[in-house]
Amino acid sequence: MRTTIDSYKSRAGRLDLEGIDFDDFRDHPLPPDALRSLRYMHDVEHHTVCYLRDLLLTPAHQDPAITSFLSCWVFEEMWHGEAIAGVLEAHGEPAGAPRIAALRRGHRRRQAVSTLSTIASAAFAGRAFIALHMTWGAINEWTTQAGYARLSETAGHPTLRELLRRIMKQEGSHIDFYASEATRRLDESAKAQKMTRFALSHWWRPVGSGVMPKREVGFLVTYLFAGDKGAEALARIDRRVDRLPGQSDLHLLTRAVAGIPDGAVSHTS
Ligand SMILES: [Fe+2]
Ligand SMILES: [Fe+2]
Repeated sequence: MRTTIDSYKSRAGRLDLEGIDFDDFRDHPLPPDALRSLRYMHDVEHHTVCYLRDLLLTPAHQDPAITSFLSCWVFEEMWHGEAIAGVLEAHGEPAGAPRIAALRRGHRRRQAVSTLSTIASAAFAGRAFIALHMTWGAINEWTTQAGYARLSETAGHPTLRELLRRIMKQEGSHIDFYASEATRRLDESAKAQKMTRFALSHWWRPVGSGVMPKREVGFLVTYLFAGDKGAEALARIDRRVDRLPGQSDLHLLTRAVAGIPDGAVSHTS
């Protein structure tokens, strides 16, 4: 059954933190590399609202179903960032507003603007752009959910596992909407298929690449996706991309990880 905006809206809401014992992290702290991954995830989840600012300058703002989705989606992503902030704070780390304010000052200096909005302002107009946006969103959400799954497995911490399970469930709703819209919109237009394929193969990069330092992108990708299990997770996403109309054999994920230099591998500084 296709996920519609109505079915997504009826499920959307604030992340349920009932019964999550954040104090457990004080008694049983996470290993340094897991914490470093969570800092990245905290920053990227909280960056969603700035990404939305850019998206609303594209043709996405003309479609009321898309703007309804984005309104609920940005709310859910904000609470993912807040939940991760709770984990960082339990470890005595700065998180939430002070950390976000410092990051935004850095983004302002670098005038960070999302790749998608740059593409929209360049040449990708109207409905074809929305097909690209939905495809890009599906790939980012697949990757994010896979990243949380790998972190949950690697960290082996019961409280973190339960928190990430709840976050992943909401990422699953985002996936359903983006992937369902991407499939339908690509199916309707050969032009959208062609433009999307071109944009993905030239400009898609792992989530957070536009705003996080290169070193942190390299660390996260390698920490979570190196090794057999990581490679399996990436190949699974590539197979999902293959099934989208006109997007087969792009190998985006496996190519992106192969492009990370060896020196970027772990270990917490
Ligand atoms: Fe999220
Ligand atoms: Fe998401």
